[in-house]
Amino acid sequence: MPAAMLPYARVLVLLGALTAEAARTAGGSFLRWEPRCQQLLPSRSPITTLLPPRLNGPWVSTGCEVRPGPEFLTRSYTFYPSHLFRALQFYYGDPLCREPAHSLLIKGKVRLRRASWVTRGATEANYHLHKVGVVFHSHQALLDVISRLKQSPAGRDCAQRLPPAQAWQPGALYELLSARAGQDCTAALGFSMHELSLVRLQRSLQPQPLIGPRLVEELFLGDIHTDSVERQHYRPTGYQRPLQSALHHAHPCPACSLIAFSDERHPPVLPPGAVLPLHLDGRWVSPGCEVRPAVLFLTRLFTFHGHNRSWEGYYHHFSDPACQQPTFTIYAAGHYTPGMPSAKVLGGTELAFQVTQARVTPMDQVTTAMLNFSEPSSCGGPGAWSLGTERDITATNGCLPLGIRLPHVEYELFKMERDSLGQSLLFIGQRPTDGSSPSTPERRPTSYQSPLVLCDGIARDLSRAPEHRLLPQQSLKGGEPYSTVARIPFLLLIPGLAFLQL
Ligand SMILES: *[C@@H]1O[C@H](CO)[C@@H](O)[C@H](O)[C@H]1NC(C)=O
Ligand SMILES: *[C@@H]1O[C@H](CO)[C@@H](O)[C@H](O)[C@H]1NC(C)=O
Repeated sequence: MPAAMLPYARVLVLLGALTAEAARTAGGSFLRWEPRCQQLLPSRSPITTLLPPRLNGPWVSTGCEVRPGPEFLTRSYTFYPSHLFRALQFYYGDPLCREPAHSLLIKGKVRLRRASWVTRGATEANYHLHKVGVVFHSHQALLDVISRLKQSPAGRDCAQRLPPAQAWQPGALYELLSARAGQDCTAALGFSMHELSLVRLQRSLQPQPLIGPRLVEELFLGDIHTDSVERQHYRPTGYQRPLQSALHHAHPCPACSLIAFSDERHPPVLPPGAVLPLHLDGRWVSPGCEVRPAVLFLTRLFTFHGHNRSWEGYYHHFSDPACQQPTFTIYAAGHYTPGMPSAKVLGGTELAFQVTQARVTPMDQVTTAMLNFSEPSSCGGPGAWSLGTERDITATNGCLPLGIRLPHVEYELFKMERDSLGQSLLFIGQRPTDGSSPSTPERRPTSYQSPLVLCDGIARDLSRAPEHRLLPQQSLKGGEPYSTVARIPFLLLIPGLAFLQL
């Protein structure tokens, strides 16, 4: 074993089952990629899921969130032991959440029901809204909401109840919904609180250099449908970016306290964020187990080569919400186009990418048998599938049983940010909730999935933390030099769910 492998072995022990299991069952390429990219996990684990979740207390966004549309917002939700809740949603006109437009004050009651048997690891809940009120922070914000309401017949009546634009009063709260009065203008505004019908609560310990580990609590609420027409009916099966407990959040989090101390009349104005130009060179990995609607558990690992604009990615699929029981792995590769700033989603970059090559590795008996019994011409050609053995599916134009068709083009939306620990984050467009693919420019995403983390960035961060001092920087970075200063906007892709059509 080369000396450089030793630190990896150490990390495998720290990581426990996930990496060890993956390393044991996967092919050689997996071993080569995974160890140095999984090093973020020790800082997040062990993760404990609280069942049933205890919602009580204040919860806040950790930064500016982007919903399909796009809508830019921050959230501050408080749950009380009486099952009552008070939720604040602050909407903005800009992607950094620095220009407040309007705020919603939402009051109601929520009751947990039972463990979800659709989304493993989640709890289903029932909720009722008592009141929803809106406060406008500018004249223009009022005009925007009125014009949105006027697009539907029901909304036109609602628009009548708002003041005429010239009579706007800063700080005045207007009622959109009142259960007692039997009026409801929220649907006309495209608003729904169905996110409260799916809940998951996670606890983890965040290592802190001097003061020791710190408790972090994350509240995952249901996902928002990417098609605004579906939003009123859609019952979530995946999650949004989690809220964190205002009392137990990761540090540093400048946005957290700003949001926690805001109210509907005094919306938070987030600090100017570190918006990074897109340079994708390097390896990007999921910092944890991801959950997709409909219901998929997976981790992703991508590599971008800027100089020849090619990318390759591994999608490791699992059957459980801790990503410990692998089902199959897809390897995909292709090229991507130079990026263009998005006119529709400020702060985002548009690009197209092509999937030209793909390979599949079945990782459990069920998937192996399913592929083995499929028509050879539909997936991989003649020859048997066996557990843990990768086969190329390019020649059969993909793999019908897994819903993969090649060649394939997707229209993407990307952005990069730096988090408060200095790690580079890569946000890739949210997949259409209906399981389709963004295969035309019109279907391009307007919001993002949970971010990937740059492996190089992880190595740098760990080398600062005392408990990881034993890991030599050299071996963390591996043998190949990375171009960390590439200036060309390189983008990347991500087939994921849509391209699988599961
Ligand atoms: C692009 O370059 C990388 C290494 O720099 C290489 O591994 C990869 O095969 C190249 N891809 C293509 C499609 O030429
Ligand atoms: C796959 O098919 C081959 C031959 O058709 C057979 O020998 C093998 O047992 C099968 N494996 C599984 C897991 O079904």
